[in-house]
Amino acid sequence: MFADPSAARMTPRYSRRVVEERDAHAELLADFRAGMLEPPRSLPPKYFYDARGSQLFDAICDTPEYYPTRLEAELLEHHAGAIMEASGARTLFELGSGTSRKTEYLLEALAARVAQPHYVANDVCGEILDEAGVRLLQRFEQLQVDSLCGDYTAALAHLGEVSGALADGPRLFAFLGSSLGNFEDAEAGDLLRRIRETMKPEDRLLLGLDRIKPRPVLEAAYNDAAGVTAAFNLNLLAVLNTELGADFDPEGFEHRAPFVEDQSRIEMHLVSRRDQVVHVSEPEARLEIAEDEAIRTEISRKFSRAAIDRLLAIAGLEHESEWSAPEDWYSLFLLRPGVA
Ligand code: SAH
Ligand code: AVI
Repeated sequence: MFADPSAARMTPRYSRRVVEERDAHAELLADFRAGMLEPPRSLPPKYFYDARGSQLFDAICDTPEYYPTRLEAELLEHHAGAIMEASGARTLFELGSGTSRKTEYLLEALAARVAQPHYVANDVCGEILDEAGVRLLQRFEQLQVDSLCGDYTAALAHLGEVSGALADGPRLFAFLGSSLGNFEDAEAGDLLRRIRETMKPEDRLLLGLDRIKPRPVLEAAYNDAAGVTAAFNLNLLAVLNTELGADFDPEGFEHRAPFVEDQSRIEMHLVSRRDQVVHVSEPEARLEIAEDEAIRTEISRKFSRAAIDRLLAIAGLEHESEWSAPEDWYSLFLLRPGVA
């Protein structure tokens, strides 16, 4: 039906709008200044996802080692009907939706329940939103798709501007893939609280979280044999070269992703292979990076039950139902807003 993603925007069943609380480039500049000028260097992980980064993440999901996608897909395949039933939702709003591939299970269940299903997708990557939109419109004939391109917090702030069915509750919010695990405790608590504040009493949140499991399984998932995760990590340097006029040499850095057990998280690093100098035009800077120095590019937390309960209590979210993979390797939680 649609030859290319731009065609999606020509149908009244699709819209995409940019939502931002702050100019995206200004935000990258601020994060770069705060995290990259001096060691220990780090950047927030949202900058991975230019069009190539999104494709590489999609390829990670297909590697035999990256179990989270498969486990979550299996849970959704088996329980989407029960999840939709329990939520009573008429509409679905997803944060960090990416390709929306797993979301199709939820949309299938939604389309079986309501005549005019409505899906609001949010992602920082516009290309992936359009691509997913094209595919979903082809598959679901009655579906309305509205994409909000921008940060999670901006999407939450602008959700009320999406008109139509979304105004009528109940709505199911979804935050899948364990993307919450890419945030430290304080930020994760703030984000969950923002979600809870945006929810109406009858809305529900479906939260997918990766759990603790043996180190070899965890480390293999972030160090796949084909090197896709390494390419994803190194792509961040290409993003910085393009966006900030920098001259990072991807060959000068090595991908590392150990499980840091006392913090219960995988940490992704780019480790300098040699002493090197990197020049940046904006902000004008000269980075002296020593051999073996690590730039931390991502944390990916693996949640204990206690850590989950603590976060939900801080955010004011209450358990309604849950579905877990064997040995609790991955869990989906259906949550309701509690009293603040
Ligand atoms: N939910 C999908 C994709 C997970 S990958 C899944 O479970 O497979 C994380 C997605 O969130 C990417 O598509 C990325 O572009 C998006 N993303 C990362 N940080 C974001 C942020 N701060 N705000 C909005 N989207 C973000
Ligand atoms: C998106 N996020 C939850 C993924 C994760 O597992 O932390 C990103 C990722 N990084 C490396 N592999 C996958």
